[in-house]
Amino acid sequence: PLRIAILASGRGSNFAALLAARERGELPVEFVLVASDKADAPVLQLAQSAGVPTIVLDPREYADRRAYDFALFDCLAASKPDLLVLAGFMRIIDGDAMKPWAGRMINIHPSLLPKYRGLHTHRRALKAGDVEHGASVHYVTAELDGGPVIAQTTLSIEAGDNENTLAARLLPLEHQLLPAVVALIASGRLALGEQGVIFDDAPIRKPLRW
Ligand code: GAR
Repeated sequence: PLRIAILASGRGSNFAALLAARERGELPVEFVLVASDKADAPVLQLAQSAGVPTIVLDPREYADRRAYDFALFDCLAASKPDLLVLAGFMRIIDGDAMKPWAGRMINIHPSLLPKYRGLHTHRRALKAGDVEHGASVHYVTAELDGGPVIAQTTLSIEAGDNENTLAARLLPLEHQLLPAVVALIASGRLALGEQGVIFDDAPIRKPLRW
């Protein structure tokens, strides 16, 4: 099975959705590590109850972002993952540190990228008067929330919506989107090529850059 390492900073509901999909037999994957920058992140409890190894790297113990990120990816590499999944990982990652993982790292972001990279996506969609909002899963590149989009889920913004109602309606959609994309990658039908995302009806045995 595809070996997956998770990076997460908080609640971990997207990781929970991946675990649940695996439980249901919909995801032929193995979770080899959950890494977090926050020692008190609930996602760590979740991993421990599921028997998934965890590691915490505290950014305050490193000289700078670069040092932190190289240490983080060293730890991750030791678990020999095939794919890194950023599931609520709230740090910007150094471009050089992530280079070896090009095409093997995905992120879920709560906006219809390329709209609203960065933080406060629900607030910004409301403020802009958008009628539609959503979440995206994309390959991670050095550009913050700027890598090639793989798939998106959408919902309508309704009168009376606020940040909380919007986030609450979007979350269950995220929980479908992320496992669906991971399943696609596990099936070998998806890869990152030089020109962007490659979807293939036939299994790709050796996708570019894997
Ligand atoms: C999710 O809504 C995810 O899209 C978002 O954080 C939340 C994590 O929730 N990610 C980002 O904002 C990335 N910049 P979770 O910890 O319950 O999965």
